[in-house]
Amino acid sequence: MCYTRGRDGPFLFGDHMDDPSAKSAELLERIAAAPSPAALDEIRIELLGRNGMITLAMRELRQVAPEERRALGARLNALKDQITDAIADAGERLRLAAVSNRLAGERADVTLPVRAGETGRIHPISQTIDEIIAIFGEMGFAVAEGPHIEDDFHNFTALNIPPEHPARQEHDTFYLPERPDGSRLVLRTHTSPVQIRTMMRRSPPLRIIVPGRTFRCDHDATHSPMFHQVEGLVIDRTTHMGHLKGCLIEFCRAFFDVDDLPVRFRPSYFPFTEPSAEVDIGCSRAGGELKIGPGGDWLEILGSGMVHPKVLQNCGVDPAEYQGFAFGMGIERVAMLKYGIPDMRPMYESDLRWLRHYGFVPLDIPSPVRGALVGPAS
Ligand code: DAH
Repeated sequence: MCYTRGRDGPFLFGDHMDDPSAKSAELLERIAAAPSPAALDEIRIELLGRNGMITLAMRELRQVAPEERRALGARLNALKDQITDAIADAGERLRLAAVSNRLAGERADVTLPVRAGETGRIHPISQTIDEIIAIFGEMGFAVAEGPHIEDDFHNFTALNIPPEHPARQEHDTFYLPERPDGSRLVLRTHTSPVQIRTMMRRSPPLRIIVPGRTFRCDHDATHSPMFHQVEGLVIDRTTHMGHLKGCLIEFCRAFFDVDDLPVRFRPSYFPFTEPSAEVDIGCSRAGGELKIGPGGDWLEILGSGMVHPKVLQNCGVDPAEYQGFAFGMGIERVAMLKYGIPDMRPMYESDLRWLRHYGFVPLDIPSPVRGALVGPAS
């Protein structure tokens, strides 16, 4: 030991204290050999703690004759610094050793089987939208979007539905409170206003589909106040009714996955198309069971037509130069038909039992939405 406890406390002046380097070598060796952070801490307390060897020795200095105190003090300070540094180094070494030890023990075994986690389901509406986008995406359509809150011009007037037009009543519109100028915004009643926004912002040729939410004041087994539509619009110099028919027949057969699906175009009326046609697909209802495919019966699934020249004009597109076709389809309706969902209301009730039953297991493939999105039309 470097010092011995005498009557009045520890003495600095053992034989060793004349040779602090010998003493420090021994202490430093102990520090360097500390096997764990806890052992190192014990040594720190033993040397530098409140009653530690060095601390007490410093205190004892007061008893040393002034002529010796200075030199002894300097040596003691140097020893204290050495010990402090050595403890810090040893601490760092032990910390690094602990980290590499842990890393060695934690090596990942990539051959272990994957733990099956709980995965959610894709809602049938999202699934149907993705399928529709994928089919039209292959035909060169891009996806466009527009706002849910619309003004009268985009939702009605520009689509050739003037204020007194009866089609306005049919839409069961949700109106927002009157604005200072007397006008009222609406929750869009269909996705058709995005036709207008797209034609006003981009020049033809255009080939877009617009999947999105729409709103009407209506609620029963086949109507919800919020529902989804997909709009389609093609504008080019030579686009004609044959393109409309080819495109929609192709879509219906791909979507319902029935190669020989009969598709019928029935004359109809929409203010924004001329001529207009409703599209029916073949089905059978034999034995009270609805089956999509050849079967002698028909199911209406979408509205379509050649874009009315007035609509083109309203958007600054010259009808003498350009023409095109448009269509609109209820997404809930085709989802219900394709996946045998009898009632629309539970679609928005977030009942997990319904979602587990009708939802889709996500596949690890990139969503077609991301690839095809061209961003908002406005
Ligand atoms: N907007 C119509 C509706 O909500 C659907 C529709 C029919 C859209 C014919 C069209 C179309 O673009 O050409 O009932």
